[in-house]
Amino acid sequence: MKCIGIILILFFATSGHAESKWSDIEASKVQEAKKVLMPLKKQLKGTLQTSVKEKGLMGAISACQIQAPQIQGELLQKGVKVGRTSHKLRSLANEPKDWMKGPLKEYAETHEGKKPAYQLVALENNLYGYLEPIYAKGMCLNCHGQNLKTEVAQKIKALYPKDQATGFKEGEFRGFFWAVLGD
Ligand code: HEC
Repeated sequence: MKCIGIILILFFATSGHAESKWSDIEASKVQEAKKVLMPLKKQLKGTLQTSVKEKGLMGAISACQIQAPQIQGELLQKGVKVGRTSHKLRSLANEPKDWMKGPLKEYAETHEGKKPAYQLVALENNLYGYLEPIYAKGMCLNCHGQNLKTEVAQKIKALYPKDQATGFKEGEFRGFFWAVLGD
């Protein structure tokens, strides 16, 4: 009996320890991820808002097509591993890595508020993968919604012949922001 008691105590002591360790890691990694994602989010939002305002929807499509990969590329060059991905891709440059595919399946077809606001995944070589869901807002539907203007649909098809990123409804899961963090 005594022996079982000790084993039980050891079991609870170690499992408790492991849990608190993961939650500590999670708290610090999530904070770090939000920080490294900030410039990407800000720049993308800035590009979209300014271009829609100054050039209209058609001009904004070109601006997104040119500037989004540039913004991501510049950050990657600085060693900041961040980007976006989706279960319904527009740009093939945003194709999901293997570790993103499970969560993409889990979040696909969900709506805002139905799933956790982030996922942290332990990767190989002491790296961590962070995923933050992106939901379609009203204005996003101009280029990702169900009823695109003909000229918008045509331009998108011309630039992205394999586009799958239309047909979204407001509040629907659109994809993830991702970040890969060191230990
Ligand atoms: C003016 C048209 C336009 C609007 C409005 C727009 N997008 Fe996009 N979106 C694009 C284009 C073009 C791309 C492909 C270029 C890129 O960003 O890499 C894209 C790519 C994406 C991607 C990257 C994944 C993929 O499929 O390649 C996500 C995520 C995304 N858009 C979400 C949104 C959200 C959320 C909104 C609203 C805040 C939004 N978009 C508004 C045109 C638009």
